[in-house]
Amino acid sequence: SPCGPIIHGLEDVLVKTTTISDIDGKNGILWYRGYRIDDLAKYSTFEEVAYLILYGKLPNRKELEDLKALLASYRDLPNDVYTVMTTLGKAKAHPMLALEAGVAALGAFDENPSDYSKEANLKRAVKLTSALPIMIAAHYRASRGLDIVKPRKDLSHAANFLYMMFGKEPDETSTKAIDLYLVLHIDHEVPASTFATLVAISTWTDLYSAIAAGIATLKGPLHGGANEAAMKQYLEIGKPENARSYTEKLLGEGKRLMGVGHRVYKAYDPRARIYKELVRQLSEAKGNMTWYRIAEEVEKVVLEKLASKKLYPNIDFWSGIAMYLLGIPYEYYTPIFAMSRVVGWSAHAIEYLDQHRLFRPRACYTGPHDVPYVPIDKRQ
Ligand code: CMC
Repeated sequence: SPCGPIIHGLEDVLVKTTTISDIDGKNGILWYRGYRIDDLAKYSTFEEVAYLILYGKLPNRKELEDLKALLASYRDLPNDVYTVMTTLGKAKAHPMLALEAGVAALGAFDENPSDYSKEANLKRAVKLTSALPIMIAAHYRASRGLDIVKPRKDLSHAANFLYMMFGKEPDETSTKAIDLYLVLHIDHEVPASTFATLVAISTWTDLYSAIAAGIATLKGPLHGGANEAAMKQYLEIGKPENARSYTEKLLGEGKRLMGVGHRVYKAYDPRARIYKELVRQLSEAKGNMTWYRIAEEVEKVVLEKLASKKLYPNIDFWSGIAMYLLGIPYEYYTPIFAMSRVVGWSAHAIEYLDQHRLFRPRACYTGPHDVPYVPIDKRQ
């Protein structure tokens, strides 16, 4: 190339410093603000981890109660935002497209749109975190011709989401399945969607627009959609006895197993290790071990045949099963990912504004210059 090196996909390019999360891809370790996710998954709820990601420390009891109260106070969405979501739900618009529109609509109701201070943006981050599950549930209900279930302020973030989706208070195991999913997806350094958020905020646009950019980017199947694909694979396999031959055949044909491999992890994804155990517990509680057993059989083949290529199950290998057992339709798997990652996107956007510089890379032009202009009647 006449241009010098082009770093395709910006692989390994550093774009900012961060104290939010860190990944050791070689050893399969993920930290949020220095804490191992294994500890946070074991001892903390989504609300606590959201506090940690946004404010930089684990909350004491009062700080946690204050955050919960703030999240609850933002459960009163403007009616017009509901209308956007139900209109798009009835039209069967993809829920991720609807979410982009819903976030933009929420931005239109901001009390003080010209305040770009860190304090104002942190409040917006909490407001967005509170709003996304309400928007997703409203879209889901409207798309099925069901009445909206308004949020309850006394329920946890995870329980309130399932309550708004299905109209009844969820059991503890189901709530835990959502809560842990949210904890494990809350941040992951700078994947494509976080980078899109950063590019947007680097222009000093508003936080709502930057989050809409994150949602737009997460929508793509190479990023947010693999858990759905993995679950469809298990449905195709049908029963545990078929898993080995299916997997060996697929790999023999040079095809990709969904929920396997990762750009950064060259070891077992630590999130997958934690969520696998949750899926086992949820499967037992729901009295349906089929999908867990199928995935376990597929995993055996992956570990035998792909570990030498440093390919291991990632979080999506397991998480689709939990969503399926909870009765959540496929197209809502990625929106639930967004429900969690909105916290990480916001934290990264806010952090970037402290070390701000406009993103403006270059492209290497490879076409001609000074082409003679031909009037329209003389063109071939
Ligand atoms: N099954 C079988 N072989 C695979 C797989 C797979 N899932 N993934 C990678 N490989 C092989 C690939 O064929 C290649 O082999 P070879 O060197 O012999 O040609 C080698 O591994 C390297 O693959 P790559 O495409 O260069 O790796 P990448 O870092 O560009 O891709 C990935 C990462 C996640 C896109 C890829 O592993 C993949 O397509 N996985 C399946 C989809 C998936 O589960 N995605 C979820 C990622 S985690 C959630 C998120 O971050 O959003």
